[in-house]
Amino acid sequence: MNYYEKELNIIEKSNRLRKRKLFDQNLIDLASNDYLGLSTKQSLLKKTYKKLKKQKSFSPKASMLVNGYSKLHHKFEKELCRLNKFEDGIVVGSGFLANISLIESLIRKKDVLFIDEQYHASGMLATKLVQGEVVVFKHNDAEDLKQKIRELTYTPNRIIIAIEGVYSMGGDIAPKEFNNIASTNNAILLVDEAHSSGVIGKNLLGWFDYHNIIPQQNHIKMGTLGKAYASYGAYILASHNIISFLENRAKPIIYGTAPSLFDIALAYTNLKYLQKHKQKIKKSIEENQSIVKKHLQIDVKSLIVPIEIGDNKKVIQMQEELITKGYLVGAIRQPTVSKAIIRLIIKLDIKKSDLKEVVRYLKN
Ligand SMILES: Cc1ncc(COP(=O)(O)O)c(C=O)c1O
Repeated sequence: MNYYEKELNIIEKSNRLRKRKLFDQNLIDLASNDYLGLSTKQSLLKKTYKKLKKQKSFSPKASMLVNGYSKLHHKFEKELCRLNKFEDGIVVGSGFLANISLIESLIRKKDVLFIDEQYHASGMLATKLVQGEVVVFKHNDAEDLKQKIRELTYTPNRIIIAIEGVYSMGGDIAPKEFNNIASTNNAILLVDEAHSSGVIGKNLLGWFDYHNIIPQQNHIKMGTLGKAYASYGAYILASHNIISFLENRAKPIIYGTAPSLFDIALAYTNLKYLQKHKQKIKKSIEENQSIVKKHLQIDVKSLIVPIEIGDNKKVIQMQEELITKGYLVGAIRQPTVSKAIIRLIIKLDIKKSDLKEVVRYLKN
């Protein structure tokens, strides 16, 4: 008996069948979120191993609220707070769990969450679990958000606004205006910085840094470790109260095993490397952006380049053709995006000559 055959057939017929694949490791990777190319640096792995060897145990063993919280977690949280100028912070197992933690626990009865329509699937999933009201506003549209706040027919207990710093599919940055709207309405502003930390801002810290916003009591920053920081896991930075509330109410934090020690140690090493070399990294980001601008006339401010193709079958064909030339790009189809795109990640470890060759192919 195959219980899901009918549904799978429907997915396949509409060219939406997803499959995890073992891609050839020799392909030049322009598809992953390892934006700065740190994931292949042996020296960073060696430093991490040294750091981890000094620990008494190498696995977190339990939830952070039992005895899974280690000095390594604590030091990393403190460093993130110091760099980002937030009062407090907590590490979480993954970005997916961080969004579930935040949205499920912070939106209480009589609260309203306003969330961008392109917010990550983890946040959208969490909206199904909340007791308060959820209002979706048009992507990156500050006017639509203001209008929807005005349309509220009652005074909510709290307003929470959820946006991403850099959007994962379009690579576009949320405007500063969202911070003004949050302040005017006494609202909490939650920023998912999965794709902005390590990529934008004067100090490569992400959205707050990019817009010169000094973190306040109403700000929450969620960042992942699986992208520019080339590890796995996540963190949440906020006021003491908000972090304490999460420790008391967020189920993935209370009931899940603490984040992997190896992953935290690796992210810590990589964060230090990034901060030490930030001027060089920023220059390299600008160079890659100008190659894209010159050849594709796309003005990107992040390292994500969406190339709209609009046909689920065609993006797969294009991806396959590029594979024959030795390059791997992302082929993102409906329903993940409204129109199928080639998602090109202009990672810093890609040789400029390779990047030029790929963008020339995509131009045609
Ligand atoms: C915007 C955004 N938020 C959250 C996540 C989830 O993070 P993680 O992969 O660490 O679970 C992702 C992952 O792709 C993401 O793109």
